[in-house]
Amino acid sequence: MQHNMLDIQDLTIEFKTENGLFPAVNDINLSIKQGEIMCIVGESGSGKTITSLSIMQILPSIANVSSGEIWFKEQNLLALNKKEMSGIRGNSVSMIFQDAMSSLDPLFTCGHQIVETIRTHKKDVTKEQALEKAKELLKKVGIAHPDTIVNAYPYELSGGMCQRVMIAMALSCEPKLLIADEPTTALDVTVQSQILKLLKQIRKDFNTSIMFITHDLGVVAEIADRVAVMYAGRIVEEGDVKSIFNNPQHPYTEGLLKSIPKLNVKSERFYSIKGSVPSITEMPVGCKFNPRCSKAFANCFKKEPPAFNVGEHRKVRCWLMDDERMNDSGE
Ligand SMILES: Nc1ncnc2c1ncn2[C@@H]1O[C@H](COP(=O)(O)OP(=O)(O)OP(=O)(O)O)[C@@H](O)[C@H]1O
Ligand SMILES: [Mg+2]
Repeated sequence: MQHNMLDIQDLTIEFKTENGLFPAVNDINLSIKQGEIMCIVGESGSGKTITSLSIMQILPSIANVSSGEIWFKEQNLLALNKKEMSGIRGNSVSMIFQDAMSSLDPLFTCGHQIVETIRTHKKDVTKEQALEKAKELLKKVGIAHPDTIVNAYPYELSGGMCQRVMIAMALSCEPKLLIADEPTTALDVTVQSQILKLLKQIRKDFNTSIMFITHDLGVVAEIADRVAVMYAGRIVEEGDVKSIFNNPQHPYTEGLLKSIPKLNVKSERFYSIKGSVPSITEMPVGCKFNPRCSKAFANCFKKEPPAFNVGEHRKVRCWLMDDERMNDSGE
């Protein structure tokens, strides 16, 4: 059987709060194939980061995976011990964070940091060999003068340059799966588009699988093969990027797409979905989107919808997809 690169099954992550345990991520199912770019998109607080941290097993101590499995090829990551997991983290799975500037150590040169990363994972590599490799990687991520940059401290570089250094570091171990959590949000659009191009090139050259987290649908359109839309800790819609953009099925996806400003529509006020993502301690009964949904009907306030299969490779967690709903008077 062909394994997916990543296969998340029925994942639930709870936070300990003063008032008890509350799920922040609920019943997530998500898979990424080799060489595929999967975008996770959703508003702030929808659970994107928590999901990605659970793959790396670097969740904050007050968060806990309460059920589910995370398969990386044929290994269930949640069943590994600390040592086995640290052999995977930063090796076959690596992560790029939003804020590159603060993820790099201000006290060391960029070259030193890449060299250390390489040598942590490949003990038999000499410093000289690692430095050569570091320069090669910097070149690969579009840095024209790697000889200068290896000697530079992070504060001497622009945000875009730091982000490239972070990507070079993440690539140093030739990961099979790269998780990028809003890697371009802090950058201006020109640099952002260069970084997106770079990630696509990396996928092409190494057949790397990429999980790309963003709240920006423009970025999704540019980079994704498939998209998972998250809302209130659930994946509410999943499908390939074309069908999501051309034919959104979940009212939340529809709302997100409607909120993209259009250049060719004059003097129209920007659309935005009314309200905001509920807090994990105050989730509505039934569908979590019901307070903001203009299409909600009785069922939506009673029971949470399951993920309905809608056509091939398309899942939608919405009662509107339920063929039986016309006959359903509610239980
Ligand atoms: N340290 C924490 N303590 C308590 N709750 C938390 C903590 N971190 C996250 N949460 C809660 O978990 C939920 C998911 O948060 P997460 O950071 O995954 O969202 P996100 O989709 O990455 O948002 P953003 O777009 O702002 O990065 C939110 O409701 C948030 O309030
Ligand atoms: Mg986040």
